[in-house]
Amino acid sequence: MPDITPAEFYSSHGTKWLSERKTEEMTGMELAYIRSLLDRRWKILDLACGYGRFTIPLAGDGYCIEGIDITPVFIKEAEDRAKRSHLDIRLQVGDMRHLPYADGTFDCVICMWNAFSELTSLQDQAGTAGEIYRVLKSGGMGLIEVRNHRSSGLVQDNMIDGDVAMPSYNHTRGSMKNVMVSAGIRDYDISIDNFGGRNRLMVKIWKK
Ligand SMILES: C[S@@+](CC[C@H](N)C(=O)[O-])C[C@H]1O[C@@H](n2cnc3c(N)ncnc32)[C@H](O)[C@@H]1O
Repeated sequence: MPDITPAEFYSSHGTKWLSERKTEEMTGMELAYIRSLLDRRWKILDLACGYGRFTIPLAGDGYCIEGIDITPVFIKEAEDRAKRSHLDIRLQVGDMRHLPYADGTFDCVICMWNAFSELTSLQDQAGTAGEIYRVLKSGGMGLIEVRNHRSSGLVQDNMIDGDVAMPSYNHTRGSMKNVMVSAGIRDYDISIDNFGGRNRLMVKIWKK
């Protein structure tokens, strides 16, 4: 079991700490990658949306998007940012392992910046991949971004760029494939892409 939950970790570190881990340039490049995959007509879920780093600008672009995250301080910050930008966005506190949406609600679900790897058991990861699949409409697409590691497994005392980070379940392309297989997902693609200037494992899930 992890020593600390994501909500505890992020509540004690706060929004400023997390936001300083991404430059505007990186977020801009990441947004360009995401936008290149989206369709203007889609209903989108930003899963583990944090403080709305992607939710707010994509809503500002006119996309129909909502966000959910387990850390209440981030949802409060996202609500404040949406208000300041005069955007009416549905944002809620919730757990990606048990999504509060009916089957087939979204055309697209994005789960970015290693949030998926903060699920520290393979059982939770397969269950969450299944939840993403469940809430996708037929024809919909899920997008999961995780770090690309040389070996897989849980790292409790995680350090990134010399700074303390959330415990993370590291993945290789092969171990991510095993998660998809465990979730019973057949239509998926796992690539190593340049995302925000870094190589990341990008998992795309399609629901027929
Ligand atoms: C590194 S942040 C990324 C936030 C956002 N996706 C982004 O790209 O800016 C990881 C996020 O995952 C959220 N998270 C971790 N476990 C979660 C869970 N079980 N359900 C929902 N959100 C979770 C954390 O609260 C945190 O906001």
